Amino acid sequence: MNIGDWLRNLGLERYEHAFRENDIDAEVLPSLTAKDLIGLGVASIGHRRRMLDAIAALRAGAPSGTALGPALGPSPEPEPSGAERRQLTVMFCDLVGSTALSSQLDPEDLREVIGAYHHCVAKTVAGFDGFVAKYMGDGVLVYFGYPQAHENDAERAVMAALKLVGSVAALRPRSAADLACRVGIATGLVVVGDLVGSGEAQERGVVGETPNLAARLQGLAEPGTVIISDATRRLVGDLFEYRDLGAVAIRGLPEAVLVWQAIQPSAVESRFEALRAGSLSPLVGREEEIELLLRRWSRAKEGEGQTVLLSGEPGIGKSRIVASVQQRLHDEPHTRIQYFCSPHHRDSFLHPFAAQMERAAGFAREDAPAAKLDKLEELLAQSDENPAEATALIADLLGVPADGRYPPLPAEPQRRRQQTLAALLRQLDGLARGRAVLLIFEDAHWTDSTSLELLDLVVDRIRRLPVLLVVTFRPEFTPAWVGQAQVTALALSRLGSGEAASLVNAIGGGKSFPPEVLDRIVARTDGIPLFVEELTKTVLESGLLREEDGQYLADGPLPELAIPSSLQDSLMARLDRLGPVKEVAQTGAALGREFSYKLMAAVARRTEEQLGDALDQLVAAGLVFRRGSPPNATICSSTPLSRMPPIAPCYAAAVRNCMPESPRCLNSNSPRSARPNPNSWLTISPKPGWSTEPQNIGKEPANTRWRDPQ
Ligand SMILES: Nc1ncnc2c1ncn2[C@@H]1O[C@H](COP(=O)(O)OP(=O)(O)OP(=O)(O)O)[C@@H](O)[C@H]1O
Ligand SMILES: [Mg+2]
Repeated sequence: MNIGDWLRNLGLERYEHAFRENDIDAEVLPSLTAKDLIGLGVASIGHRRRMLDAIAALRAGAPSGTALGPALGPSPEPEPSGAERRQLTVMFCDLVGSTALSSQLDPEDLREVIGAYHHCVAKTVAGFDGFVAKYMGDGVLVYFGYPQAHENDAERAVMAALKLVGSVAALRPRSAADLACRVGIATGLVVVGDLVGSGEAQERGVVGETPNLAARLQGLAEPGTVIISDATRRLVGDLFEYRDLGAVAIRGLPEAVLVWQAIQPSAVESRFEALRAGSLSPLVGREEEIELLLRRWSRAKEGEGQTVLLSGEPGIGKSRIVASVQQRLHDEPHTRIQYFCSPHHRDSFLHPFAAQMERAAGFAREDAPAAKLDKLEELLAQSDENPAEATALIADLLGVPADGRYPPLPAEPQRRRQQTLAALLRQLDGLARGRAVLLIFEDAHWTDSTSLELLDLVVDRIRRLPVLLVVTFRPEFTPAWVGQAQVTALALSRLGSGEAASLVNAIGGGKSFPPEVLDRIVARTDGIPLFVEELTKTVLESGLLREEDGQYLADGPLPELAIPSSLQDSLMARLDRLGPVKEVAQTGAALGREFSYKLMAAVARRTEEQLGDALDQLVAAGLVFRRGSPPNATICSSTPLSRMPPIAPCYAAAVRNCMPESPRCLNSNSPRSARPNPNSWLTISPKPGWSTEPQNIGKEPANTRWRDPQ
């Protein structure tokens, strides 16, 4: 069997090089484990799962690529890479009334019920990238944020939980009456430790109060409901509707904790509104960008339609600029249409357009299909000369049954698709005939392919219409329209340090901060407004400062600050995506904001080539930059990411990693930069007996093939 073909069948040919480099042939393939796959650089859990299923099929003699269905039992075990400190959202779910069931049912039937329930949990949480850590009878412990973090792990957990309670209620095993489960969710810092136990019982120890809190919250939940901790609630903002359950005493915790019941996803479509708009700080800078957008708006109003491509890294302020432009146009007559892409609907056909239609038509959850059709007809009649055909197509897109109310749609999916796109475009034409239109397409990096195709048509169509289209996206998305007529690309840069300082002061309500605190926040946040906001709020909430005469004062030296909980997941997600290189980034985090190549080479436990590769990747990922050439190079972190404590492995592991076996490792021509940086956010105390004085110069690392970043 050819390894390349095998990978191609799975759609995973990108790993062929790694497989060949590591001498994986047809003989070795069936014995590969999850651990091996991680070693091969297969960082994505989904890809590993796909390969492991195919390997299991190989072992069983089935053809490669055979799907084996959703796995029961814990998800593939990640590579143990030492203890690691990270934020986790932990879900604990339990089957209601299982004790009663066990006395009522025959053991075989009980096994079937529990099996169906476990299968349902495994399948549901897998859809949101949850990691089933452990089955405990009818209880299941699930992690979101491990082994792969995502920027929205808390949101994933709550979505999974709400879906799960519905799916368990819909289970109809032959032998049991109705089933229900209860779910508890908590978020917090934990240390994910070494593997304990062996075989089936093997699990990765997680130390911290979060799993216990999740289990206790589960105990508080009514059957079929989801209870979340206050930390989780803060992370998910207004994405869901909640019931405030107040402060509840929890066994084992010194104080009562605030808890919430998550009821259902909220009607707020804009992630910016749901997650940020609650506490908007005054706008700082960005006048030029807003002016440019307003100039394009003026041109568009004359009938010379414009597209502005607003790009930038997460948290840089794309949505905030769009919100400011909307505010500035508030008193001008115009029509505003907003499309929102969602990380959960990347493969969902025309999702942003379908969701916009539902909002514009004013669908309510309880509306019967006929009422929805009436609303759609009324909406489309405003802009379409043939509202019956348009309504039939859009109703089909939204899954509203038309029950023979309109002529039948074409049977061929391709024709139906083209007609749907045409109907959506006609709607835009119709609206633009009335008055100028501001079209906002948010987060295009999450768009599905058909929406992108339609957006392509929109960019083309609006050139002769009074329409300004603003498309926002992160750098991973490459728009096809750059350089076209009437298209302007606007890439947002980070705030300057003066602007960042103004933002800190504005968040503090105009009260001045002690210079040391202000400088530290500005330096740590590197001009990303989201980071500035969150870190400033963390400092204000920490009680380190007191207010006096309209200013903040610090009573003593400022201790090290932790990464705000709201940033942990997205920062960890970036690191996790680096796969094995993460360890080098973590070692760097322990060494400080700036360290010498020699020190890294001494402690990184990698060959020169491996270290060169790892650093190349970190440079390419924008996490570090360097001055000079190895071996005399200095490495600097370019974002706050690599110098904030929780990104490092846990303290003990970092110290273990960074302390050389012998002081000779620290030999350097540049003792200042060769020692762990005392200003690192992770301050490391030297081992007893380890001299911090410069040592005799030993063997220099040979020149590496690490390239100059351009
Ligand atoms: N110039 C600014 N002045 C004040 N606050 C700002 C500014 N820019 C951004 N912010 C604030 O920073 C936070 C992040 O901004 P925003 O949500 O607009 O980022 P984004 O680029 O849209 O990120 P994402 O890619 O995650 O959608 C928001 O709370 C926003 O209000
Ligand atoms: Mg945004």
